[in-house]
Amino acid sequence: MSRYFTKSLAALKPYTPGEQPRDQQYIKLNTNESPFAPSPRVVAAITGQEVEKLRLYSDPACRDLIAAIAARNGIRPEQVTVGNGSDEVLAFALRAFCDGDTPLAYSDITYGCYGVWCGLLGIPSRVIPLREDYTVDISRYRALGATIMITNPNAPTGLALQPEEVEEILRANPGNVVIVDEAYVDFGARSCLPLIEKYENLLVVQTFSKSRNLAGARLGFAMGNPELIGDLNRIKFSFNPYNVNRLTSLAGIASMEDEKYFTDCTRKIQENRAWTAQKLREMDFTLTDSLTNFLFAQSSRIEGGQLCKALKEKGILVRHFEGERTGNRLRITVGSRQEMEALIEALKQLGA
Ligand SMILES: Cc1ncc(COP(=O)(O)O)c(C=O)c1O
Repeated sequence: MSRYFTKSLAALKPYTPGEQPRDQQYIKLNTNESPFAPSPRVVAAITGQEVEKLRLYSDPACRDLIAAIAARNGIRPEQVTVGNGSDEVLAFALRAFCDGDTPLAYSDITYGCYGVWCGLLGIPSRVIPLREDYTVDISRYRALGATIMITNPNAPTGLALQPEEVEEILRANPGNVVIVDEAYVDFGARSCLPLIEKYENLLVVQTFSKSRNLAGARLGFAMGNPELIGDLNRIKFSFNPYNVNRLTSLAGIASMEDEKYFTDCTRKIQENRAWTAQKLREMDFTLTDSLTNFLFAQSSRIEGGQLCKALKEKGILVRHFEGERTGNRLRITVGSRQEMEALIEALKQLGA
């Protein structure tokens, strides 16, 4: 840290992203990316002519992209805004709906960025423990006086609440915004999107990174009532008005228009998840019932951190989170069938 770095952020602990090796030697099951290429329509949309247009700024209102997202989801364009990954959309939401007097409430085991953003933005965290089995105890979410983050399905646990349960949280906190982070919803959980018509305090955030195979494009979006969306846009236009670049915008539109490819890819991930989970259970692993593109798995024979290292030596990257309740587990991204077969083979060789 230089002597110029602001003292107010001296204690900031940045997020540590999963490893992104530059070589191709690894089977990458550590950052919940898709093993599949983006839709062929996306590839076709990024033409030389469009690349030449990069001399011009992108549309700050992202009208065509927002129209495509709204059409796909059966809502109105004024109920949608977009950002540079759902990370940016979520950070905008924290800036808009939290401050020193309005904390952010989130689970003790969840996506690490929430706590980091609280540190960055001077927002107090209200950490709510999951039950022993990693499920959410919704009775702990009554009249919190805080903005609430529900990660649904949750990461790294893979478990999801039903929209009816989220509805109870919405009803119990009418004075605060409830953000539902649905980064993994397309792999089998039920979305809370239909509830945006009924609850003015609901913001649903999704991403193109996982189920649309576009992690590198950086594109996420929020859906909610037009006033909440307007609030997010107030932040966006005060921070980075051109936050979605031209090529990403074209990629997003093309992806939203290719429903069949989306369905095929997400179905394959669910099939590979079921196959892998069964193999792991046969090997005495303990697993949650993940509804995501990853498994949260514990070997009955080898400790989590040790197993993560041993797999890396065999060319397979998975994610390990230190901590009393997570340290013995691995978060394993569901990849192609071939990748999952290689994983199972490596685990067998390691005696896991
Ligand atoms: C729960 C959750 N939310 C949000 C994100 C951010 O995704 P992105 O910024 O790529 O849209 C991630 C990424 O892994 C995540 O796991």
